[in-house]
Amino acid sequence: MLADWLGPKAAALESRGLTRRLRARSAGERLIDLAGNDYLGLASDPRVVDAAADAVRVWGTGATASRLVTGTTALHEELETSLAAYTGHESALVFSSGYLANLGVVTALGGPGTLVVSDDHVHASLIDGSRLSRSRVEVVPHSDVDAVDKVLAERNEPHALILTESVFSVLSDEAPLEELSAVALVRQAVLVVDEAHGLGVSGGGRGSVAAAGLAGLDHVIVTMTLSKAMASQGGVVLGPFLLREHLINRARSFIYDTGLNPAACAAALAALHVLQAEPDRPAAIHTAAARLASACGVAPSAGAVVSVPMPGPREAVRAAEVCLEDGVRVGCFRPPSVPDGISRLRLTAHAGLSDTDLDRACTVIVNAIGRST
Ligand SMILES: Cc1ncc(COP(=O)(O)O)c(C=O)c1O
Repeated sequence: MLADWLGPKAAALESRGLTRRLRARSAGERLIDLAGNDYLGLASDPRVVDAAADAVRVWGTGATASRLVTGTTALHEELETSLAAYTGHESALVFSSGYLANLGVVTALGGPGTLVVSDDHVHASLIDGSRLSRSRVEVVPHSDVDAVDKVLAERNEPHALILTESVFSVLSDEAPLEELSAVALVRQAVLVVDEAHGLGVSGGGRGSVAAAGLAGLDHVIVTMTLSKAMASQGGVVLGPFLLREHLINRARSFIYDTGLNPAACAAALAALHVLQAEPDRPAAIHTAAARLASACGVAPSAGAVVSVPMPGPREAVRAAEVCLEDGVRVGCFRPPSVPDGISRLRLTAHAGLSDTDLDRACTVIVNAIGRST
């Protein structure tokens, strides 16, 4: 039965070069990694590793229950207080992933009385949150502030959310945060900014919202993942205390989900401490990203990700394979992950790359692109 049902779907994907496959990493492999999201190069830092190991010894291997039952530990609270202080928000609430943080905030604030205005490049988790929220959703062209203003002005709903990323995942460009915030204020809307690619990278590490002077404002909410620059796992929503209370009571992805593993909390907290003690780390990401962009002949990116457009998904996959054969792991963006349908190589710069690694990576990637197109 499943063979008849799923077989043709699998064949259709394969014929378009869009099949996704899992590839297990092996421990200790000696590749130059430009595919992972360990932006600050802290996932193997002994301070972060030791903090996670110590947390397992103290708290055990799991959170044991939902945050509302036994799943909140002193580590969760310390992480929330520290992240809120670092990024300039009144409060923070930790979820078990960035995906669930986005689902939680949009569903808890959405509904029939809320219009959701969503940039057409936002992450799948914000899209899914919008759909689940049963709000009316208006998708607007990428970073088009006038389009946002227009749909907000014409709405009948009493409430509205504007959804954007600060540094976008695929294009790695920055949203016009100050303009969006100004429109939100005039039109009585709340601006929700996903800083998955901003935390630890933009604004000297504090993110683009803090850099724009918008952190802590009553109409601004920020979401973050702990799985990229924070070298761990988990998600966070930051904003006013009242928002935190509301999410604790209304966000189903918070209430009905086991709390974030204490080891992940401890790792993220340790990574945050390293970032605070070594504030030059984010600059190293930008230096590496600029070198990769220049070697590939694309514009410099605002974040850690450098996107190199390819003729199609097959060429992107082929180039990534050639890179791997030559010791450099890179990622691919292919439909449906790319809103504009353009397949790309995804090169992730991180702070731990040496000059030698970068030189080697640039040579390998340029060669692989040449051989695959
Ligand atoms: C923009 C954006 N938001 C949210 C997420 C989801 O975060 P997590 O991996 O913690 O679920 C990601 C991760 O890929 C992302 O890129």
